[in-house]
Amino acid sequence: MLTRLLKASVLTSFAFFSLNATQFDVQAQKDKKELVKYFEAKFQDPYKNKNTFFPYSPEEELKDGYEKGLKHMDFGIGSYSYAKDAKEQYEAIKEFPPYEDKIEDGEELYTKEFANGNSLKTCFPDPTIGGDYPYFDTNRKEVISLTTAINECLESNNEKKWNAKKGKMATFQAFLAYSTAEAQKKMNIKIPTKEAQEAYERGKEYYYTQRGYLKLSCATCHIQGAGQRVRNEKLSPLLGQITHFPVYRLKWGGLGTLERRMSGCVKDQGQVPPKNDSKQMHELLYFMAYMSNDMPIDGPDVRK
Ligand code: HEC
Repeated sequence: MLTRLLKASVLTSFAFFSLNATQFDVQAQKDKKELVKYFEAKFQDPYKNKNTFFPYSPEEELKDGYEKGLKHMDFGIGSYSYAKDAKEQYEAIKEFPPYEDKIEDGEELYTKEFANGNSLKTCFPDPTIGGDYPYFDTNRKEVISLTTAINECLESNNEKKWNAKKGKMATFQAFLAYSTAEAQKKMNIKIPTKEAQEAYERGKEYYYTQRGYLKLSCATCHIQGAGQRVRNEKLSPLLGQITHFPVYRLKWGGLGTLERRMSGCVKDQGQVPPKNDSKQMHELLYFMAYMSNDMPIDGPDVRK
């Protein structure tokens, strides 16, 4: 009887605890659900849904240029999930991915000893963490990105910080992304506290805020605009937009981090991007990553 009672009380306190632990992401879960619903409806049949989603696109292109019937997980490869012509090129490049040797280089960086005998492996004993960042650090009460965590590891071991955008940083992250993908792990972002919820909300606000002369927000292009053609590329969707970083861009002739890609994107609009290790950048990434929760990590990847 006593053990039964004990068991029951352990169970109820566990239920209470888990209820408590998840309540801060109620809104975020709702946001994500709506986003999935929006993209599935939009790419169910772009031609048929022209009036709702693509009023200004040429009919020919809507008829022939898009994959149809897309579901949540299909969006993991960005605009290649629906852009038919670009997808063919993408698949051809992926047969001999230009980043392949970088994964080994990244693994070397992982175990290479610092002057004090430690290594990145000391800070990150498990390399399959690509889906766990950015995370909300409940002690420091702030969001920490993967790039910032790596640089903090270097600095706390008296090593020099790395450039957040390319070089060793991108190479090492390629190894982490690859290890995470190999382990078949998914984007797994948590919102554990009230402060975390507020950080998420600020990131979301940044994403939806219109800026600059043209009054563009990230959402203008990557939600409402997703699928539309800008110059010779179709715009990628927020959903699944950051599951595949770092990427090898043909334009760069090398690997770059998510920070590099995003800063470039913001600059293209004539605006000043948030600094790589700023609160604004961290919280923006936190929101974006949450929107891709439950989607498999599939980096590194290639882009034009
Ligand atoms: C004027 C339209 C426009 C706006 C506004 C815009 N972007 Fe982009 N973005 C693009 C284009 C074009 C590309 C390249 C094609 C693609 O993958 O979408 C791109 C690419 C990206 C990528 C890379 C996607 C991938 O799969 O490689 C990310 C991430 C991104 N943008 C984030 C943002 C964020 C965050 C904002 C707001 C701060 C933003 N963008 C605002 C047009 C825009």
